[in-house]
Amino acid sequence: MISNSLEQTKKLAHDFAATLRGGDVVFLEGDLGAGKTSFVQGVLEALGYTEPVRSPTFSILNTYPIANHPTMARVIHLDFYRFETPKEVQSLGLEEMMQDTKNIFLIEWPEKGIESASPIRYTKRIQFRTMDEQTRDITIS
Ligand SMILES: Nc1ncnc2c1ncn2[C@@H]1O[C@H](COP(=O)(O)OP(=O)(O)O)[C@@H](O)[C@H]1O
Ligand SMILES: [Mg+2]
Repeated sequence: MISNSLEQTKKLAHDFAATLRGGDVVFLEGDLGAGKTSFVQGVLEALGYTEPVRSPTFSILNTYPIANHPTMARVIHLDFYRFETPKEVQSLGLEEMMQDTKNIFLIEWPEKGIESASPIRYTKRIQFRTMDEQTRDITIS
């Protein structure tokens, strides 16, 4: 899909949020400024989360409780940008958190944390490509 504005990207995120199920692991791939965090903000808005959503670039992991959803209880937003080796991801204990199928994971820069033998796999993958200042090519698979 092509998005021509931040608002359009948020709208796409709203539609995507309706497809999410507890246990989903979503990889968000693309360069800095491509719109990954904005997309996550749109997803959380659609799920009824009204507080500000900030990039977890420094905190690594932010958890958002979700009320009144049939299959999910919380969204866990991660950003692996600052990681230098996949080992750092292992220290987060994600595998254990992934046992709880009421959790949903939205992961920015997953490629920084995933080894070929990694047990962490995506169920949905979103690739963002910056075409020009306002235009983004967004592929969901
Ligand atoms: N079509 C668009 N979709 C998403 N963001 C856009 C778009 N056009 C411009 N922007 C701007 O690009 C930036 C995207 O930042 P952010 O979502 O933090 O990216 P990332 O998390 O991928 O680094 C924001 O400043 C946003 O206003
Ligand atoms: Mg970001």
